[in-house]
Amino acid sequence: MASAQADLRVASNDFVPIRYRTKNELLSTALNTAVSIALLGFICYIKAKPTVVMPGSGKGISFKDVAGMEEAKLEVMEFVDYLKSTARYAELGAKIPKGALLVGPPGTGKTLLAKAVATEANVPFLTMAGSDFVEVFSGVGSARVRDLFNRARKLAPCIVYIDEVDAIGRSRQSNSFGGHSEQESTLNQLLVEMDGMNTMEGVVMLASTNRQDILDQALLRPGRFDRHIAIELPTLIERQAIFEVHLKKLTLKMPLQSYSKRLAELTPGNSGADIANICNEAALHAARFE
Ligand SMILES: Nc1ncnc2c1ncn2[C@@H]1O[C@H](COP(=O)(O)OP(=O)(O)O)[C@@H](O)[C@H]1O
Ligand SMILES: [Mg+2]
Repeated sequence: MASAQADLRVASNDFVPIRYRTKNELLSTALNTAVSIALLGFICYIKAKPTVVMPGSGKGISFKDVAGMEEAKLEVMEFVDYLKSTARYAELGAKIPKGALLVGPPGTGKTLLAKAVATEANVPFLTMAGSDFVEVFSGVGSARVRDLFNRARKLAPCIVYIDEVDAIGRSRQSNSFGGHSEQESTLNQLLVEMDGMNTMEGVVMLASTNRQDILDQALLRPGRFDRHIAIELPTLIERQAIFEVHLKKLTLKMPLQSYSKRLAELTPGNSGADIANICNEAALHAARFE
């Protein structure tokens, strides 16, 4: 345009004023789209996003990787068994338990056990952390609980696992200053979903915590988390087994058994996580000095 006007010898102050609208329009359209995408994103953000592990696509952790904890493993597998043979239990008039709570000190393998269940159980496994429900916006927590259970009902029979439930299951008496808190309504929603009018058969809950003392009593009563599976610090024999699991991945000079027994004897009171750490530190040390 400018060159055409120059060719026609139009004085530069007589140039036809040009406003480039298209770019602006593009920009505003882009802005609009961005805003709507952000809104959409916000709506999705409110929705719960559990990690869903479908049967046959586990995290690659099997019961073999979980050393010791024989009783806990048995109890957890019993739960999985309920889901698989619902008919048999219904025939006998037994109600399927709603949930089990894994309780134990940090690092004793609660999360690990749940991962193993996700792999070994032949049902869908939905997992979320307790803190995933917590948000500054009020109502988001309970919306997420609702959403999680809606998804679970669609996938039933399935297992829902909530790691570190104490984030939402905190006792309602302990922080009773001020009115109806967000955490409280999230907990209420969870209670209703586990035991309310709209519950359906075939959804079993697992949860883990290391603070059973601060959990709400209503959450612990039979009908919600019927079973409490206590996971203690490993004993001598269990420590040896855990050492064997973790040492197996390392390059060793002598046979495995010659280390594991001695190390287990040297580490009373250590949890599974401590043991995993010891093995890793040893490997790092070796790498540094080679
Ligand atoms: N019984 C066990 N067998 C093998 N490894 C274990 C065992 N218990 C704990 N560990 C190790 O400790 C780590 C942490 O365990 P985790 O399950 O996350 O603890 P928490 O009970 O706090 O959830 C695991 O990743 C694993 O390497
Ligand atoms: Mg954990």
